[in-house]
Amino acid sequence: MIREMLSRLRIIPVLTVSSPEQALAVCEALQAGGIQGVEITLRSDAALDSISRVREAMPDFIVGAGTVKTATDLDSVAERGAAFAVSPGLSDDVVTRALARSTPLLPGVATASELMRGLAAGLDCFKLFPAEAVGGRALLKSLAAPFPEAAFCPTGGVNLDNVSDYLALPNVLCVGGSWMVADDLLAREDWPEVARLSAAAMELAGRV
Ligand code: 3PG
Repeated sequence: MIREMLSRLRIIPVLTVSSPEQALAVCEALQAGGIQGVEITLRSDAALDSISRVREAMPDFIVGAGTVKTATDLDSVAERGAAFAVSPGLSDDVVTRALARSTPLLPGVATASELMRGLAAGLDCFKLFPAEAVGGRALLKSLAAPFPEAAFCPTGGVNLDNVSDYLALPNVLCVGGSWMVADDLLAREDWPEVARLSAAAMELAGRV
């Protein structure tokens, strides 16, 4: 089920917000640029209320939660109705809780060993994180042969220059990134630029 969602999204903005109002304004700009969903990170106090707010106001926009590091975090985002949860790493507690709650989970992996733990737990979609720092496309190509059952959402260092190359890999369903929702764009409320960068990314995704 998470596979279908990720394949449809193709690009998941990784968004850290300072208020639910800001979250809604950003998500409206993302949607105007053709983006269909977002990961709102638990890196600010506004995250949980922002997840609720965007879900209520934009029912056709997929709202996931990111930086889910503990089973308690997983409970919190599931209770807010997050469509999926993203974790920077692979925590057995988080995986167990996500499976128990039937919350789609995208845990982070950076090595074959972490991937094997995730596969053994019954998962088959993973965030490669931090993608560029741990080997990027070369690592994804290397993992494809021994792990044909695994699919990835590389995140960390993905941008307009390399997004097409990532999306062209057969084991990549989608990518995550913050370049279209960078802090400076949010600080100056440059929603047209958020929409423009989103449209540029989706256009590249459509060409792969
Ligand atoms: C993440 O939290 O997944 C990353 O910080 C996003 O990576 P980026 O900022 O390099 O796009």
